[in-house]
Amino acid sequence: MNDAGIVTGVAVAVDGERITDVGPQPELDQRYPDAVRIDCQRGVLTPGFVDSHTHAIFGKPRFEEQELRASGLDYMEIARRGGGIHSSVRDLRARSETELLALAIPRLTRLAAHGVTTVEVKSGYGLTPDDELKSLRVIRKLGEILPMRLIPTWLGAHEIPMEFREMSDGRSEYVRLLVSGMLPAVASGRLARFADVFCEPGVFTIDESRTILTAARSAGLGLKLHADELRASGGAELAAEIGATSADHLAAISETGIRVLAASTTVATLLPGTMLFLGKEKQAPARALVDAGAAVALATDFNPGTSPTTNFPLVMTLGVSQLRLSVAEAMIASTVNGAAALAMADQVGQITPGFFADLALFDASDVRELPYWYGDNRCGATWVRGRPCHPWGSDTLRGHQGRAVVQALTE
Ligand code: NIG
Ligand code: FE
Repeated sequence: MNDAGIVTGVAVAVDGERITDVGPQPELDQRYPDAVRIDCQRGVLTPGFVDSHTHAIFGKPRFEEQELRASGLDYMEIARRGGGIHSSVRDLRARSETELLALAIPRLTRLAAHGVTTVEVKSGYGLTPDDELKSLRVIRKLGEILPMRLIPTWLGAHEIPMEFREMSDGRSEYVRLLVSGMLPAVASGRLARFADVFCEPGVFTIDESRTILTAARSAGLGLKLHADELRASGGAELAAEIGATSADHLAAISETGIRVLAASTTVATLLPGTMLFLGKEKQAPARALVDAGAAVALATDFNPGTSPTTNFPLVMTLGVSQLRLSVAEAMIASTVNGAAALAMADQVGQITPGFFADLALFDASDVRELPYWYGDNRCGATWVRGRPCHPWGSDTLRGHQGRAVVQALTE
């Protein structure tokens, strides 16, 4: 992870949707004399960021909870009182697909404006078959409308809904509904690529999570897990055991969990913005994970409760300042390993011939400026499949800072 392959003075050739060449500019100038050229004015060009963990389908924001936490009320206590995820669930159930779509477009566009070209989006604020399917249809529609890549994840197991918490035997009834009522519809409608569970004491247990994810795997979905976020409960171990593509959060991961993850192919996705926003002092043990050999990814966890930010470079800042990653490690965590956390490491996340031309250009002259100007947004342009993504709808890309990009449009 400490070798991000940073080079200077190069140009990138793109043919159609893919990168075909990376090399010294004079060479590419000669090789592609007829190419359309985009002068990036010696800025920093990176693979577009891969934000592999968001909950971007929600209605109202939940700013009232920030003050409650500041006054001493814990995140889980707010949830026990019917706030937290339950509050977003009540709100989302009352909204139409069109309304949710209209709310999500500017939110995702903001993410794109911060250099993100691939974004995983979870359902999880519906928690009924109708409302989960509604959320997943919104994600599918967004994928058709927006130029960025959207990867849908079914998170019907985000909470035990209030109406089931109030029933005796409600927990097992809800797990039954997830496995027999929701999952078949999600899978047959091809509405999600991954299934995820919030595995945490007070939410879904290890056994419940295993039941849900095993069924999801049989239905053809990839697996993700919210694991060991607030308390160590064996979530990382479960993720490795069932062959999950990623285990996410991990702020409370145990020593055993670190060892098991490092020995597995499961990506450790860390979300430092969440711990910052919740006011927690503890961050995930990123150094121990990297040093043990785990593949670490960074993501925003963009959601209305615990991480209402679309500022991906800020997450990189936290990766360096709080998680103690090097800039190269933070870059790899935001690109190559983010792609691995979505099982797309052979397609996006690298500026390498054969990979999709998903690129981001920054007004900076050194890659270390990306996490350095914290809270700032230096992203001037992004491309997905070789086509402009941000600014959305613009085909004039002149004036943006960046290293030379040569776009070879041969057809
Ligand atoms: O990743 N931890 C569970 N889910 C989200 C928070 C959801 C919410 O509070 O609305 C997370 O932090
Ligand atoms: Fe999350």
